[in-house]
This record gives sequence, structure tokens and C-alpha cells, in this order.
Amino acid sequence: MRGMTTSQAPVARSVSTIGVIGLGTMGAGIAEVFARNGYAVVGVEKDEEGLARGREHLEHSTARAVQREKMTEAEQAELLGRITFTTALKDLTDADLVVEAVVESLETKKAIFRELDSIVSPQTVLATNTSSLSVTEISTANSHPGRVIGVHFFNPAPVQDLVEIVRTVVTEDQVLADTKALVEALGKNPVVCGDKAGFIANTLLFGYLNHAVSMYEGRYASREDIDAAMRYGCGYPMGPLALLDLIGLDTAYEILETMYRQGRDRLHAPAPILKQMVTAGWLGRKTGRGFYTYE
Ligand code: CAA
Repeated sequence: MRGMTTSQAPVARSVSTIGVIGLGTMGAGIAEVFARNGYAVVGVEKDEEGLARGREHLEHSTARAVQREKMTEAEQAELLGRITFTTALKDLTDADLVVEAVVESLETKKAIFRELDSIVSPQTVLATNTSSLSVTEISTANSHPGRVIGVHFFNPAPVQDLVEIVRTVVTEDQVLADTKALVEALGKNPVVCGDKAGFIANTLLFGYLNHAVSMYEGRYASREDIDAAMRYGCGYPMGPLALLDLIGLDTAYEILETMYRQGRDRLHAPAPILKQMVTAGWLGRKTGRGFYTYE
């Protein structure tokens, strides 16, 4: 197995090539994490525009590391050189692990897992980065559901140390063990949980985020004061509204909606203004406007 960190745990499967499907905020971040650790990455997007966006994201993120003297220009070039970009899923033939990170649509994800059947080898582990959809349902689209697992990175993926590993009732023990070892080899902390919308972190986090939106919507306090309260009072790295802008309001809405549908807990009933902002195209940082505006 290839990798540059020294803390690599033994992995039964030999993993050297990683496929990442979807190069949005999360997918591009995940591709960067693997490339930083020496893996060859095949990044797949549905069209040239998506590829260009993904490439730009990666260039920007690594340029920032160069600017901060965390990486030399030569290392940046090497890292980017490990990533190939394609619009064809069939280019994943040699992937030892595929991480799917496309939009939170069950149908889209199932179609991809179905198509992967005829492309990758039966030993290839198929991971989904879904935040709230059922990994079990996604796995049913593949003829080897035992090799399907949830691998949930946090935003920004190159920075956040947590990866939630979601095992379904049919995930094979060896697939779980190999995935856990691989995540550790990336220098991340894996936690393992069952297949329930929101997993561990989002179940706890999104009730809080939703409550902050309701507080803002009810004009109880300004966005700055809501965020300042949690940053300075509770030591959070960013306030809830700024965090929602980072996550993306469309993603946040989908996560809340799915958790609400599954649990019917009012805590997760999306605050109405969230939907309105999504409809208006105010999706947060990625569109330049959310609760705050961005250059
Ligand atoms: N990509 C790559 N690196 C990034 C980055 C990005 N998008 N954003 C920040 N960084 C890096 C910086 O380069 C910097 O690296 P070094 O320390 O090596 O120099 C480091 O992170 C700190 O960045 P900054 O100094 O610019 O800013 P900061 O100290 O304010 O940190 C932050 C920014 C990392 C985003 C921090 O505010 C934070 O951790 N916020 C909370 C994020 C969080 O809660 N994420 C989880 C969201 S929930 C989720 O993702 C689950 C889901 O399903 C939606």
C-alpha cells in the first residue's frame, strides 16, 4: 500500500489507486486528502465544467498551503500530478477503493453504484460520503453490497480529523477493518456507527445549527451576535451561521430534511428561512452569499 504518513496500520487489501466520484467541495477535499498521502487519485465529474471547478478547488486549496509555507511549490505540483481528471466512470477500472461524493440524491447515488458493478473488480471497496442518506439503500444497487460502506468526511476534509465509518448490516468485517486502517493511515480519526440518518456528529450538530437559524429568523439576535456567542462563549472555531455557510445551505437543508423525515423530531424540521435562501440561490460560501456575503 502506498502512503507517506508513518502511522499506517496494516491493511489486508492492497490500496494504491483511489477513485473519487464528484469533485464538489467534499469530493475535491477528499481527493486532496488521498493525494497528500501519496495515493493515485482518479477524480470523476459528470461534465467538463464540473471537472474545471474541481481542479480549481484543488489548485486553490493547495496554493493556500504553499502560501502558508506548509508545502513547497514542487510538492504542490507532485500532489496535483497524482490526480487525474475524467468524465468517464469506466476510468475507475483500476481503483482499489472508490469514494462517491456526489449530490445527496438517492437515485443518483444508486445509479452510480449500479454502474460501478461492471467497471471495478469485485474486491474494490465502494464507499459513499453521504451525510444522511441510507448507506444500506445505496448498497442494494450493487451486486456485492457487502463491500459497500459509508466513509463520511467533514468539511473542510483536508483539515477536519474525523471520518465516520458507517457499517450496514451486510458490510463485511474485512471491509470495515480495511477501511478503518486506511482512514488511520490518512492520519484521521475513524469512528464507527450504524446506518441511521445523521450518523453521530450530524445528529448532534444539526439540531443546534437549525436552532441558530430559527433564532436568526425570529430576529432574536443578529447573525454576528449569534455566532460570537458560540465562538467566544463556548470556544467553537466558528459560529453556527458561518458554519452553515461553509457546509452549504442546500446540503444543510437536505440533511435536516432527511433527518426530520426519518426521526420526526421537531429539532430537525428545517427552519423555513433555510429553504427560502436555498430557493433564492443563496447557498453560502460557494455562491458568494448565505448568511454572510463573500468576495
Ligand atoms: N481547505 C483546505 N485547508 C483549509 C481550508 C479548506 N477549505 N480551510 C482552512 N484550511 C486550513 C488552512 O490552510 C489552515 O492550515 P494550516 O493550519 O496548516 O496553516 C487551517 O485550516 C486553519 O485555517 P485558517 O487559519 O484560515 O482559519 P481558521 O483557523 O479559522 O480555521 C476552519 C478554519 C478549519 C474552517 C475552522 O474554523 C473550523 O474548524 N471550523 C469548523 C468546521 C466544522 O465544524 N466542520 C464540520 C462541518 S459539518 C460536516 O462537514 C458534516 C456534513 O455532513 C455537512
